Amino acid sequence: MSSAGATQQRDAQFAVPVRVAESQTTPEQPLKMGEPCTMVILGAGGDLTRRKLLPALAHLCSDGLLHETFAVIGVAREDIDDAVFRKRMHDAVRASEDAADVPEDVWREFERRIHYVRGDLRDTTLYEELTRRLSQIEADAGAERGRLFYLAVPPSVYGSTVQRLSASGVAPQRAESRARPWVRVIIEKPFGTSRETARALNRVVSEALAEHQVYRIDHYLGKETVQNLLVFRFANSIFEPVWNRAHVHHVQITAAETVGVEHRAGYYEESGVVRDMFQNHLLQLLSLTAMEPPTAFRANAVRDEKVKVLDAIRPFEAATIDQNAVRGQYNPGLSDGAYVRGYREEPGVDPQSRVPTLAAVRVLIDNWRWQGVPFFLRSGKRMPRRATEIAIEFRHPPHLMFPNDAARVIQPNRLTFSLQPDEGISLCMEIKLPGIGVRMTSAKMDFSYGEAFGEGHQHSAYETLLLDAMVGDQTLFARSDGVEAAWSVVDPIIGAWENSPAPDLPRYAAGTWGPEAADVLVARDGARWRRP
Ligand code: BG6
Repeated sequence: MSSAGATQQRDAQFAVPVRVAESQTTPEQPLKMGEPCTMVILGAGGDLTRRKLLPALAHLCSDGLLHETFAVIGVAREDIDDAVFRKRMHDAVRASEDAADVPEDVWREFERRIHYVRGDLRDTTLYEELTRRLSQIEADAGAERGRLFYLAVPPSVYGSTVQRLSASGVAPQRAESRARPWVRVIIEKPFGTSRETARALNRVVSEALAEHQVYRIDHYLGKETVQNLLVFRFANSIFEPVWNRAHVHHVQITAAETVGVEHRAGYYEESGVVRDMFQNHLLQLLSLTAMEPPTAFRANAVRDEKVKVLDAIRPFEAATIDQNAVRGQYNPGLSDGAYVRGYREEPGVDPQSRVPTLAAVRVLIDNWRWQGVPFFLRSGKRMPRRATEIAIEFRHPPHLMFPNDAARVIQPNRLTFSLQPDEGISLCMEIKLPGIGVRMTSAKMDFSYGEAFGEGHQHSAYETLLLDAMVGDQTLFARSDGVEAAWSVVDPIIGAWENSPAPDLPRYAAGTWGPEAADVLVARDGARWRRP
């Protein structure tokens, strides 16, 4: 632990579990069922298909949430047939965290609906073959069905692939969102590498497809607690009145990872932590936390409010970047008790690399609600614990009538939304220690999803989002203006850092909370990083 870590805030000493009423712990009948469709995964030879997409589909199938005629076509370059592809997908599902428990008979039934098409994305014959296979599946199913394309391909070919899908007629434009059969395209992150490139990509995509057909995925939005943040904020009345600058001292949003760059050096060397985590995941969390109440839980109503928050973020300036953003790169160290190498020693990484693997950023939102309230965002690889959370720290009581408690200083109230590894919500408050005289300590009311509902009721983020795409709900997907607005926020940070590389890029030992400068960043506002 760095000296930085030692100054971080500890959690309350006492935790009181919050339970849900027994009768409410069993989910009702599912509210959504996938519409009849064929999903086409372009780039099905990659990691994403094996680790996330197929397990998500298998799990949805096992829960009875896919239409009985649902089919999936994997597209990749390798010369294999349906049988080999199915076998690989079977192994992938069995090895996955999310769907290893799918019963074998469910898999056998599901497997029959998995197909494989071999081809090169640049080759027009691929699209002819795809059209043929799709028409065949559609004719066999005998009912009108949608086409859902998933771009699990390298970001550099998103634009050209969308163009080819459209030009070949396999994914035609639908001017009207109600037009049937529907055609939708899911595009993975990163959507561009800057505002300019995101805008250019949006332009290409919008020539081929209508916005209602485009699903820019950010898997953080599919996480249960992220959606629960909306319910918490807008289905309860006691929190909204204090959700503003009068009561909130600051907000901390952390996405700490224990993993290093893994096998993704090629991508990460180009991206770094700000493009990889801030432009998308962290700014999504920030905008959901800070947005005004939308008028309805509908895609554009929610997305309008999120974009307004991003637009209100005070622009970062190169001259003052050091006061508002801190970067770091991991050195060798101990992770989970084992020695791990530093970023510069990772395979595929430049030994002189200046790419940041950790950043901490102070964001100010220039609007009525949040004026003067800092939002501290941090994310890093090789931190001591895997933890993603949003913590709202409230102001100290304006006057403390109790006698000085020499033993300790009171802790401010804190509301924490944990996204992972355990999902839940907790509220820290001061209480009186039992006994004669008034002595205080902190206690935590803890609501854990796992304990309340059991692990069995959980769906992976990809399941939630794939199902939403199958029913045409874009609420949890980024809109074109939102993506560009998020790039506008981070571009100046990336620009300042890339244009003036720190003479000595701050380094932190793997397994620590990052450089001390990150502590100084928050200390200036009288805050301390939490230690989740
Ligand atoms: C991805 C990033 O989008 O999110 C990865 O590219 C990161 O670098 C991952 O590890 C984190 O996702 P999660 O769900 O594990 O927090």
